Amino acid sequence: MKLIIINGPNLNLLGKREPEVYGKQTFEDYFRGLQLQFREVQLEYFQSNIEGELISKIQEVGFTYDGIILNAAAYTHTSVGLGDAVKAVDTPVVEVHISNVAAREPFRHESYISAGARGVIFGFGLQGYDLAIRSFLD
Ligand code: DQA
Repeated sequence: MKLIIINGPNLNLLGKREPEVYGKQTFEDYFRGLQLQFREVQLEYFQSNIEGELISKIQEVGFTYDGIILNAAAYTHTSVGLGDAVKAVDTPVVEVHISNVAAREPFRHESYISAGARGVIFGFGLQGYDLAIRSFLD
C-alpha cells in the first residue's frame, strides 16, 4: 500500500502558525509518528507553497499510488486547477483539513477539491491524517 500526504501552503509552519487553530506540533514530528504507527504502509510526505508544484505532484503519483491524502490548505478555496487535477487522476484522494472549516469564515466553506474526492475529513486536528490513512486500509 503506497500512500502520499500532500500538504499545501503554510502547512510547513505547523507548530508555529496560529497554534490555537492548528496545534503546537510540527508536521515532521507528527509524520514520524504516523510512519511508526503504519509500518505496513509506504507513506510519503510532500509539502509545497506553490500551486503548480502541488498539481504536478498529484499528476506524478496519481496513476500509480494507492491513495492521496490532500490538504490543499488555502488553495482548497481558490484553485480550479487543483480541483481539476484531483478529478484527472485515477488514484483516490481523501481531502483533509486540520481545523473545522465549516465553523470558520464563509470563504472556507467552499472547496474546489471535495467534488473529486473520495471523502472529506475535517475538524479533528492532525488526527484527520491518521483517519484518512485508516480509510484506505479498511
Ligand atoms: C486548512 C484550512 C484552510 O482554510 C486554511 O487556509 C489552511 C489550513 C486546515 O487544515 O484546517 O491553511 O486546510
